[in-house]
Amino acid sequence: MTATRRVTLITGASDGIGLEFARVFARHGHDLALTGRRADRLEALADEIAAAGRPRPLVLPCDLAPADAPGRLAEALTEADGAVEMLVNNAGFGLNGAFDALPREEQLAMVDLNVRALVALTHLFLPDVRAARGGVLNVASIAGFAPGPHMAVYYATKAFVLSFSQALHEELRPHGVRVTALCPGPVPTGFQSRAGIAESVAGSAAALSARATAEAGYAGFRDGRRVVTPGSVNKGLAMALACMPRRFLLPRLAARQASRRTDGLKSSHS
Ligand SMILES: NC(=O)c1ccc[n+]([C@@H]2O[C@H](COP(=O)([O-])OP(=O)(O)OC[C@H]3O[C@@H](n4cnc5c(N)ncnc54)[C@H](OP(=O)(O)O)[C@@H]3O)[C@@H](O)[C@H]2O)c1
Repeated sequence: MTATRRVTLITGASDGIGLEFARVFARHGHDLALTGRRADRLEALADEIAAAGRPRPLVLPCDLAPADAPGRLAEALTEADGAVEMLVNNAGFGLNGAFDALPREEQLAMVDLNVRALVALTHLFLPDVRAARGGVLNVASIAGFAPGPHMAVYYATKAFVLSFSQALHEELRPHGVRVTALCPGPVPTGFQSRAGIAESVAGSAAALSARATAEAGYAGFRDGRRVVTPGSVNKGLAMALACMPRRFLLPRLAARQASRRTDGLKSSHS
């Protein structure tokens, strides 16, 4: 069957930065496919976009952590007559706490979502993306620039995403395919409570809204940039994280992350 809709597929579109990506891409005229686990939120977002006079996005609810999920999502998209032109790999979460105190299964689920699903989706949809001379926008993090004691697995997943995206940027550039890594600093979303981060990040000098983050990501992706770090404070931080000698940096990062743990994680895992 011939695919009739060329879409931008956005993972983690039910909340936070992914939801704002959906609004930004829709405003710029992209037809969308939205995924995440919470179908009701995806449907409400699709209604909102349709009410603004845009094509109603395809809604494809999916838990992306299981190994077979990306394949099932690709099948669902094909059944809906969709083909991916742009892929926004945004779904992800973090966990703050000592490596040996955090549950193993949760940390592995984080690797499955932040790394495995992202690689699988990119590989599955690349033929369509190449055919359309489209692109892949991967949400990494400023955490990708350095190791992160007390968030060791999360930082490592984002270092993977950053490295992987930069390599693909170079591989696919000659084929007219854009690949961008977005490296946000703190963004007040559901991320902090899921991660077990106690303090609000909203007042931090580095904090940017989910909307501003998505807009910066969209603009950098459109312009074919390899890495986008939104906000001047975050740009400086990223440079410091990448360049500072590890023996100075790591003890400071360790102390900071340990002090940010929620009471719940402190009492149940320390
Ligand atoms: N907020 C920050 O400070 C910050 C900073 C740097 C990078 N980031 C990155 O930005 C991305 C988006 O995070 P956010 O801040 O927008 O967090 P968020 O508000 O918690 O949103 C996370 C999104 O991921 C989806 N998701 C979570 N687990 C999933 C699963 N198993 N299968 C499918 N979808 C799943 C969630 O949807 P459902 O719950 O409906 O499944 C939700 O839409 C993440 O990759 C995060 O690492 C965030």
